[in-house]
Amino acid sequence: MIPAIEVHDLTVAYREKPALWDVDLAVPTGSLMAIVGPNGAGKTTLLKSILGLIPAVAGNVFIHGEPFHSGRRRVAYVPQKSSVDWDFPTTVFDLVRMGTYGRLGWFRRPGAAERDATATALRRVGLGDLGDRQIGQLSGGQQQRAFLARALVQDADVYALDEPLQGVDAVTERAVMEILRDLRNAGKTIIAVHHDLHTVPAYFDSVTLLNVKVIASGKVGEAFTPENLKLAYGDAAR
Ligand SMILES: Nc1ncnc2c1ncn2[C@@H]1O[C@H](COP(=O)(O)OP(=O)(O)OP(=O)(O)O)[C@@H](O)[C@H]1O
Ligand SMILES: [Mg+2]
Repeated sequence: MIPAIEVHDLTVAYREKPALWDVDLAVPTGSLMAIVGPNGAGKTTLLKSILGLIPAVAGNVFIHGEPFHSGRRRVAYVPQKSSVDWDFPTTVFDLVRMGTYGRLGWFRRPGAAERDATATALRRVGLGDLGDRQIGQLSGGQQQRAFLARALVQDADVYALDEPLQGVDAVTERAVMEILRDLRNAGKTIIAVHHDLHTVPAYFDSVTLLNVKVIASGKVGEAFTPENLKLAYGDAAR
């Protein structure tokens, strides 16, 4: 089967210094994959490259076999929390409904179907009552849920999430993981940057260890070894 995401020989640099060096990666369709590595390892850069948001020095990305400029509409993205402007004046409902714009094309305005999909996604993430709030008035965990809802209404094939569990409480963490597992069980592919190494085996079926280069990638049982962790994190890894 064609992998959901294929990355070939990808090198990305900001100014001179490479953030990703010669990255090869295949994410099988239907995986729930963690991307782990130390701060500055290039995890966010990898997600943005997969989405075509930053230019590569070299290399290619394919989404379900298509070059990313045609395949990337099939990818939903939840950005890292710190990168979002929460003062942007918009309601939670409108933020989530923006996720439907990709499938509408240029000329159609969102209508009843998009409103329903938005309301359903808000309920699914437990924000059914908060649609009218300004996004800046949500708690951190609620903001993460709102971005997850926006990704859900995109009805994508691939979900790329940058630290979806950052700063959320145990209840939200369980709720988010349950949604990600449901997506996987529906045949979707999920890659999520994840910082808590202890929960990798419980939450994910596969893992990529990244530190500018790919250290290892595959099933958690094979790739998530103490040796590979040491290569990715240095001696600080426990
Ligand atoms: N816009 C930018 N301009 C210049 N350098 C950048 C830019 N964005 C990231 N970098 C650098 O590229 C490297 C990789 O950054 P990236 O954000 O991908 O790391 P990360 O693995 O997501 O880290 P974290 O765990 O802290 O989120 C870092 O050294 C970072 O300083
Ligand atoms: Mg990051």
